[in-house]
Amino acid sequence: MSAEPPLGTGPAYRLWAATYDVENPLTTMDSLAVRFFSHDIVGKSLLDAACGTARRLVFPKGHAPKSACGVDLVFEMLAAGHRDPARPRTTASGDLRALPFGAERFDVVWCRLAAGHLLKIAPLYREFGRVLRKGGYAVVTDFHPDAIRRGHARAFRDASGATHVVDHVVHDADAHEAAARAAGLTFDAAGSLGVGMEVRPFYEHAKKLDRYTADQGLPLLLALRFSK
Ligand SMILES: C[S@@+](CC[C@H](N)C(=O)[O-])C[C@H]1O[C@@H](n2cnc3c(N)ncnc32)[C@H](O)[C@@H]1O
Repeated sequence: MSAEPPLGTGPAYRLWAATYDVENPLTTMDSLAVRFFSHDIVGKSLLDAACGTARRLVFPKGHAPKSACGVDLVFEMLAAGHRDPARPRTTASGDLRALPFGAERFDVVWCRLAAGHLLKIAPLYREFGRVLRKGGYAVVTDFHPDAIRRGHARAFRDASGATHVVDHVVHDADAHEAAARAAGLTFDAAGSLGVGMEVRPFYEHAKKLDRYTADQGLPLLLALRFSK
């Protein structure tokens, strides 16, 4: 593990952009949870808030929303996505806390693995409450608070192979619910996904099956859904 202090959002994702799209146990769980919580996006307008490289805005034929766009704070993440012709060009620079859209624009808003980069989550939910249409919903996922408490960190390898840790602020499920409620959203559901069979191949590939045994059951992903 890296001995340097955790990196803030800008420095971390500027470094991570080149290798970001490599899937890992956390991103695999994120995909499972988001598919479950937003299985009905076909024909809807979707905003992926903190979309990174926009890798989640590529849909199989017949499963696409009516429209899909994304915003992210870090130019290098957006630029990495733009190098892939399959990804949409409907992404732009923007901050989760001040979304560059008018009110009631979207049926569905995603915020995947980004809330822990914010010191406070109230502005995020205030913005989701504003840009969602009545009847719309938000799906928010993040690194699980229990994983942080058990000493796990959000770490990545840059293109040179060096490992870095990213700063992460713990927001418990209760804090998400309180902030969402204050923004006029209603709690629909929450779930925790832990290390299990779905992610065993990552450990196997890394020749770390002993680590898999130790991590089994560890909650890695928190997922929440709120409606307007
Ligand atoms: C772990 S990545 C997730 C990217 C994407 N949601 C995915 O699942 O592939 C977190 C992203 O949040 C972005 N981010 C962090 N703080 C942000 C903010 N205040 N506004 C917009 N994006 C932000 C980072 O630049 C980074 O691309």
